[in-house]
Amino acid sequence: RAAGSWTRCSGSRLLRSAAVSDVVSVEFGREDIRRRIEELGRTITGDYEGRAPVLISVLKGGSVFLADLMREIALPIAIDYMSISRYGGAAESLGRVRIVKDLDHDIGGRDVIVVEDIVDTGLTLSYLISVLDSREPASVEVCALLDKSVRRIVPLDLRYRGFDCPDEFVVGYGLDFEERFRNVPDILAVHDMDALRADPDVLLSFLPRIEPVPSEG
Ligand code: IMP
Repeated sequence: RAAGSWTRCSGSRLLRSAAVSDVVSVEFGREDIRRRIEELGRTITGDYEGRAPVLISVLKGGSVFLADLMREIALPIAIDYMSISRYGGAAESLGRVRIVKDLDHDIGGRDVIVVEDIVDTGLTLSYLISVLDSREPASVEVCALLDKSVRRIVPLDLRYRGFDCPDEFVVGYGLDFEERFRNVPDILAVHDMDALRADPDVLLSFLPRIEPVPSEG
């Protein structure tokens, strides 16, 4: 975005583009994400040759990543979803979560790959892994698109990792800000959370652009 040009946001409000990039910028573009997922899919396909793992995604953030990742895996996989709710923040709850929606199928004896959008402190994931382990699967591995490794509290072995993520709040590609903007195709890093809270519509310019169908005649 050229500094000094103007971007139309929320209705009639205009924000200087230079100001927008102070608040938020593209950290991982859609093409880089696509290429990295292709690589992850190829690696998983090789590692699990002759097996049929079940990919488990944690709603809602992980759903976009799972949708793209599974189409890069050339194995007869199954998928399942879990939905969890935290007791307060991850740190306050020590990662303990309430399972709001459990898996539809038994994972006993299965090879499980937990597909996560982002691992931050690691508290949620380590709790989730202990829950899954108690169901006696053949194996449990993790595939995380983003690894905020500098914030890790609980050591975790992430067998598959998309990108190392800077210590900033990220939005898009399934990750939300107050339940919005999961459909932003790129992953954005927020540099100024106060400015974003004051005007979340600053993210509108990153939504997918749909060209109007030219009218006939
Ligand atoms: P953890 O227990 O601290 O590892 O928290 C992981 C969860 O926190 C992720 O599954 C996300 O739902 C959420 N989360 C952590 N960092 C971000 C972020 O930068 N953007 C959006 N959600 C995040």
